[in-house]
Amino acid sequence: MDSIIVRGNGPLKGQIPIAGAKNACLTLMPATLLSEEPLTLTNAPRLSDIKTMSQLLSSLGAEVTSLQDGKVLAMSSHDINNHVADYDIVRKMRASNLVLGPMLARLGHAVVSLPGGCAIGARPMDLHIFGLEKLGAEIELKDGYLHAKAPNGLKGAVIELSFASVGATENILMAATLAKGTTVIKNAAREPEIVDLATCLRAMGAQIEGDGTSDITVQGVDRLHGATHPVVTDRIELGTFMLAPAFCGGEVELLGGRMDLVESFVAKLHEAGIDVEETDKGLKVARKNGRVKAVDVTTEPFPGFPTDLQAQFMAMMCTAEGTSVLEEKIFENRFMHAPELVRMGANIEVHGGTATVHGVETLKGAPVMATDLRASVSLILAGLAAEGETVVSRVYHLDRGYERVEEKLSNVGAHIERVSE
Ligand code: EPZ
Repeated sequence: MDSIIVRGNGPLKGQIPIAGAKNACLTLMPATLLSEEPLTLTNAPRLSDIKTMSQLLSSLGAEVTSLQDGKVLAMSSHDINNHVADYDIVRKMRASNLVLGPMLARLGHAVVSLPGGCAIGARPMDLHIFGLEKLGAEIELKDGYLHAKAPNGLKGAVIELSFASVGATENILMAATLAKGTTVIKNAAREPEIVDLATCLRAMGAQIEGDGTSDITVQGVDRLHGATHPVVTDRIELGTFMLAPAFCGGEVELLGGRMDLVESFVAKLHEAGIDVEETDKGLKVARKNGRVKAVDVTTEPFPGFPTDLQAQFMAMMCTAEGTSVLEEKIFENRFMHAPELVRMGANIEVHGGTATVHGVETLKGAPVMATDLRASVSLILAGLAAEGETVVSRVYHLDRGYERVEEKLSNVGAHIERVSE
């Protein structure tokens, strides 16, 4: 099992290229199941989660070919021959549940394993099921699998979500493209990954309006055709690397960064005393002098502060001037990085969904353990600012969502290396 060793090495300088978004690619890939014609994704990220989704689609009979060093995914599900998404694949990655809507819409039936528990929260699928049943599907849970069928096809409906769930919106949106009549998803998720999915589906011939707002309208069509679609920039990878110079000083340009993807996050960086400006290649972030200031944060659905940047922001607040309060409103168990940061000398109190961080002068390097994807990278960032050596173990979590972290950070001057045990 790999670990990553980080030694604080002072200010960073240079450029970091930002990849395509994991959370967009993981919903774009199942969209291939909606059509017999090929779907090609460009600017795809090279991550273990993408490999897992390729494995799942292949198990259903789709062809997934990785080209150009993994940056292009050529997919075709002309010959789907299996409608069962197996537990052995689904348990590795919850986003596997995004094949449910497309398979139901295209084939009229689907059997998808429930993903089971997750480190950051219970993460049920009740809203996915609620929405698909509104479209006329019959769904039954049997032996840990969702058995869904719509023998006469799906029918458009008005679906009001009690919470703007990203995954439920994506499953319903994909299913609605082939449903008879009009579907309106009310209180839909507004994340950029949803807009990217809708843009791709429109390129395949779907009729969709309102993506990016809380009300999405879909006019069902009989069939979808093939398309080629560039995966949107990964705003979470972008936000993560924007923090690197905030931790240890310096100036870094994030190539491909877009301000519209990270506005609420940038507002908090400004409050903390971090400079962020747009360049013709992306975004430039600099921390010139002094400690960052303590800032309070509450995670919310987009366009609010993203929960996927909470761990990284908490790590930065560990050495801020003053006390900050972080409220996690999306997931019920997403502070597992806190005790690891405390091992590095941070002063953090956690009570339920609220963490209070009392800023300290410096962190000290220590052996720490990654517990989930975003927690793992928060420990690496903390290591950049710490005195001495930090060893982050269980970095398989990291590889699920970040490509070549050590390379990207060492190119801007960080002392970081991966070691295999
Ligand atoms: C997506 O997860 C992302 N994953 C997550 O990123 C991200 O944290 C999350 O959206 C929120 O932004 C992917 O896109 C693959 P939700 P998803 O449905 O779709 C509850 C990362 O680090 N809920 O919006 O699962 C749920 O339990 C990952 O890259 C229900 O109660 O998120 C959670 O508390 C982690 N019932 C909240 O809503 C449902 O049917 C948000 O979940 C669905 C969700």
